[in-house]
Amino acid sequence: MIKSTSIAPSNIAFIKYWGKKDSSLKLPLNGSVSMNLSGMTTTTTVEFKKDFTEDEILIENDDRKKTKDRVSGHLDKIRQITEVDMKAKVVSRNNFPSSTGLSSSSSAFAALTLATVNALNLHLSEKDLSILARQGSGSACRSIPDGFVEWLEGEDSNSSYSYSLHPPEYFDIADVVIVVSDKKKDISSTEGQILADTSPFMATRLANIKDKIIKIKQIINKKDFSSFGQLIESEALEMHAIMLTSNPPLIYWQPGTINIIKLVKKMRTEGLEVYFSLNTGQDVHIICKRKDVNKLEGYFRKIEEVKRIIVNYPSVGARLSDNHLF
Ligand code: DP6
Repeated sequence: MIKSTSIAPSNIAFIKYWGKKDSSLKLPLNGSVSMNLSGMTTTTTVEFKKDFTEDEILIENDDRKKTKDRVSGHLDKIRQITEVDMKAKVVSRNNFPSSTGLSSSSSAFAALTLATVNALNLHLSEKDLSILARQGSGSACRSIPDGFVEWLEGEDSNSSYSYSLHPPEYFDIADVVIVVSDKKKDISSTEGQILADTSPFMATRLANIKDKIIKIKQIINKKDFSSFGQLIESEALEMHAIMLTSNPPLIYWQPGTINIIKLVKKMRTEGLEVYFSLNTGQDVHIICKRKDVNKLEGYFRKIEEVKRIIVNYPSVGARLSDNHLF
């Protein structure tokens, strides 16, 4: 047995995953489409040893028991497949703030899955890795393949996985993340998603979502940036409409969130073509053409409530690395 390390990107969904038909297998109510992010990664090292008596899990900046249990639960799933009963040491580090809505679980469970599988000498296809990562955190299955990715809704565990639609260099765009607060969100995505069905608008969302997925894929194929931006903005707002109208309601926005959204609109009227997307949290993802990144950064650096700016380009998926964390 060996020690293994993986680096995996976080991803931003253009058509979102919000709501599950099976919470333990993390089967989604609908498919989704995303892009992997070059500037937001998790690095995870996993080592199995016969003399370990229990899992030792060290996640930088997250000492919560609930996080450790979730990681251990995922290790159990992989141990079951390989019929290994050894305990593991896991060390994990993000290069961006975790649990603030920046989708740290996507990169975290993609990196954990690849490192664990490799440490146990399991040789899995990209599809099977994606299926396993999905069971750690749904969005993690989209961080396994490269670039622009579709997660197929599927009918069961074996048919719900992600694959690459296009390599990272296909579409010349960027995702500039504007961090407006380092405050951790009080309701996680997993908890929030349980409420999706309580929104009276969820049925309407689901009735239209297959067409939306077809549309976004056609738009990405054509590299039609304006149609792309309009669709991803309305999709982000639609997901938040579901959150806001859930019972109890989920309000992930901070005042800074609204201010940035309004600035995005203003920038467009001033001739800079930028659009926003949002996840479970207060920070705003601004999608722009690659050539406009510097202008955008300069603009937001002057805004008082901006705590941090993270520039992302489309990225490859999860990879193995020789740089072990211990
Ligand atoms: C709003 O994948 O974090 O970012 O499967 O319960 O771990 P679990 O949820 P998670 O949810 C992500 C929700 C989202 C939308 C998206 O990324 O598609």
